[in-house]
Amino acid sequence: MPRLITLSRAARLVGVKRGALQTKIQQGELRTFEGELLLADLLQVYPQTQVEDTTMLERVEHIMEQAVNKIVRPANDDLPDSDTLAARILALGQELAQARQEARRYNDLVTDLKQKLDELGPEAEKTQEQTFSKLKDWFTLALASTETPADDSDFIAKEAFLRVMAAQVRILPSGHEFFIEGSDSILEAGLRGGLALGYGCSNGNCGKCKAKVVSGQVKKISRHDYALSETEKGLGYILTCANTAVTDVVLEAEEALGSHDIPQQEIDIRVKKTECPNDRVIILHAKTPRTSRLRFLAGQYLSLELAGLPAQYCSLASCPCDDMNLQFHISVTTGSPFSEQLAGSVKANTVISIKGPKGAFTLNEDSPRSIVFIAINAGFGPVKSLIEHAMALDIAENLYLYWMTTPGNSHYLGNLCRAWDDALDNFRYRPLEVTDRKPVADVLAEIIADLDAIEELDFYVCTPGPILETVETALTNNGVSASRLQLEPVRESQTG
Ligand code: FES
Repeated sequence: MPRLITLSRAARLVGVKRGALQTKIQQGELRTFEGELLLADLLQVYPQTQVEDTTMLERVEHIMEQAVNKIVRPANDDLPDSDTLAARILALGQELAQARQEARRYNDLVTDLKQKLDELGPEAEKTQEQTFSKLKDWFTLALASTETPADDSDFIAKEAFLRVMAAQVRILPSGHEFFIEGSDSILEAGLRGGLALGYGCSNGNCGKCKAKVVSGQVKKISRHDYALSETEKGLGYILTCANTAVTDVVLEAEEALGSHDIPQQEIDIRVKKTECPNDRVIILHAKTPRTSRLRFLAGQYLSLELAGLPAQYCSLASCPCDDMNLQFHISVTTGSPFSEQLAGSVKANTVISIKGPKGAFTLNEDSPRSIVFIAINAGFGPVKSLIEHAMALDIAENLYLYWMTTPGNSHYLGNLCRAWDDALDNFRYRPLEVTDRKPVADVLAEIIADLDAIEELDFYVCTPGPILETVETALTNNGVSASRLQLEPVRESQTG
């Protein structure tokens, strides 16, 4: 029976983006059967795939994990626990036994057929003799080709190994997929994989992460106070924050498909630290309570209120995959009590009340197109959030970052951007400077000249408000349609 493989697993196996496989499907190079690919087709299109590539894949994933600033986990959490491993190996063993049995049946059938042809040959009429002879030769060849080539065995062994190390979860009705490594909960792994799954407390109290298991085996990994009814249990409902996947799993679960699906929240967060990389920007690191994390989409903004001061809007600069540790890049504005207090007297553990999230400067997750990010000064904050989310989703074929600074500002996280550029084959970073002699329009012309097939790219731009129109005009004049252009002003005003 032909072996099928999901798009996500195929991408992992051959070490390319899902977007690259989707392009090959559109171009007819790869066939799909109910959304899955033939393993044999995959090997034909990527014949260079070797078992040794696994180490390369793991190295890149490790670098990516460091660069993307994902949730820190203890090292011994990298492996699934022994029960989960045993259950996955058992499932693979059953599959293997079934495949062997099937292969044996096919082999017997073909051997019998060949024997029949041998017997029929001499009795056949002279005119039929040649036909039988041809048919017999064809069967002899076909029989020989049923032996699995060594390359295929390595490929299949690698795929089986990846299946033991990580289970795949598919969410319905969206069809989004992600992998669970170690003993992570389904919710943790989903958030890390860039999905906006529905949840509330993350620790088994609220029931908002309830999902229905359609197929596959899950395992409870933590106690939960929220009680599922007997009917719900009977129907296969589980809490994703308290369960992991043992085998590949299909779940019916709630997912935010846009900013309108994210509930408004009010949370008191605490300052972890502030950094002033230059005198124009403050990086604020803050933590939510463990039991009240912030649900948001990359690129959104919040209202922040420091005791006694008017609330101010600020964009999130961190990834929704880490919903406890929030980051904001705040422009230092003369006369702004908020930024002055942050730069001066705010200490660790100071409480900041947040409300939100707001805004629709969010990633189009259904687009497999390459993405261009353009930021000016602290506009890098929300762009950083989007980049980290795009890396977690792993869909776009290429990511380009153009970060402009105006006089007096600097690329204050240039090292991070260079680390992304070094670690990821599909990421390119170009720092650019706007000067008195080289205005924004000239730098934009340089960016446009640097890009191929500009009309086929998605653009996400965050600059000070008055500059947005210049950027929009430059891009649309060069063929970028409005539907592929997301514009966001740097959020630095009071909430009013
Ligand atoms: S998120 Fe609250 S119970 Fe799972």
